[in-house]
Amino acid sequence: MSLPSATGMTADVAVAADATTPGRPPALELRGLTKRYGTLTAVSSVSLSVAAGEILGLLGPNGSGKSTTLNLVMGFIKPTAGEVIIHGHSLRTAPRAALQDVGGLVEGSAFYPYLSGRLNLQMLARLRGLPASRADEVLELVGMLHAAERTFGDYSQGMRQRLGVAGALMHRPRLIVLDEPTSGLDPAGTREMRALLPRVAAEGTTVVLASHLLTEVEQVCTRVAIMQAGTILTTGAVEDLLHQRPRWRVRLAPDARPRAAELLRVLPGVRSVEAAEDDLLVEAETDGESLNRALFAAGLVASELEPLVPSLESVFIELTERTPAP
Ligand SMILES: Nc1ncnc2c1ncn2[C@@H]1O[C@H](COP(=O)(O)OP(=O)(O)OP(=O)(O)O)[C@@H](O)[C@H]1O
Ligand SMILES: [Mg+2]
Repeated sequence: MSLPSATGMTADVAVAADATTPGRPPALELRGLTKRYGTLTAVSSVSLSVAAGEILGLLGPNGSGKSTTLNLVMGFIKPTAGEVIIHGHSLRTAPRAALQDVGGLVEGSAFYPYLSGRLNLQMLARLRGLPASRADEVLELVGMLHAAERTFGDYSQGMRQRLGVAGALMHRPRLIVLDEPTSGLDPAGTREMRALLPRVAAEGTTVVLASHLLTEVEQVCTRVAIMQAGTILTTGAVEDLLHQRPRWRVRLAPDARPRAAELLRVLPGVRSVEAAEDDLLVEAETDGESLNRALFAAGLVASELEPLVPSLESVFIELTERTPAP
């Protein structure tokens, strides 16, 4: 009599353990997320999964739907269709559970200008039911402890932004959402903010940020989702996106170039060969050694042969130009 139930319990426990260990739910999941304003579709059926600990960059030109997506994630606006799931909790059916572990960049105006940075954060701590000492912890994390006693109104734009991030981190959320975190910052402030985000991620917090700055995403993010006209064109590790189309630059004497081009064009793995000033640009799924060996076997000598790593900018331009806005 007791045996079947005991067996059943063991099975249940085993299933529960499986579900919580390697198969931990993603920090954030968007499923067919859509937001329409009248006839304009700001976000169009976006699906995306962000694993815990990632720094994901939403990259896209102005008006591509980045802020709308983040506002949907923060629950500030409601989707027309689709769903936001945070740490396994649906924002639609369990908003409290979904949002309890999320922090967003608090706008500078949310702080009292006549109080010190520390006092502002201590008040925020009290509002959230946290000890006042948490204020100094987050001040330290964002590198603002030295300016804790200064009045918020006297802070520079960069300091205000960092205090905003400190506020967002106050309740130790597992996910933080930042919309253009370096907008309005000077180069030094930008550098400080960019250095801060990997520190935050190292503490185990997942970061999702929107940016229209390629360099920012390239420097800070572990993965990027490229948005255009409300849709995600592609997602991938920044590294992988940069190596999608391997190309080689081959330098040869001018008289050798036509024959080399002819030869390379028919080589296995070579997709295209173009002449560019003194070089041949070879798009090929092969290694440089094979290219070099084929040339050498035909009596052609390359004086230089190097892989070309495209910039994220060129990948981005190619992707967004290839896909016309509707
Ligand atoms: N409240 C709103 N009412 C009507 N249209 C809106 C609203 N909010 C956003 N939009 C429109 O939705 C589209 C996407 O806007 P969104 O602000 O999400 O873009 P973005 O990628 O954040 O752009 P940016 O780089 O300029 O910040 C735009 O065409 C915008 O005009
Ligand atoms: Mg925006």
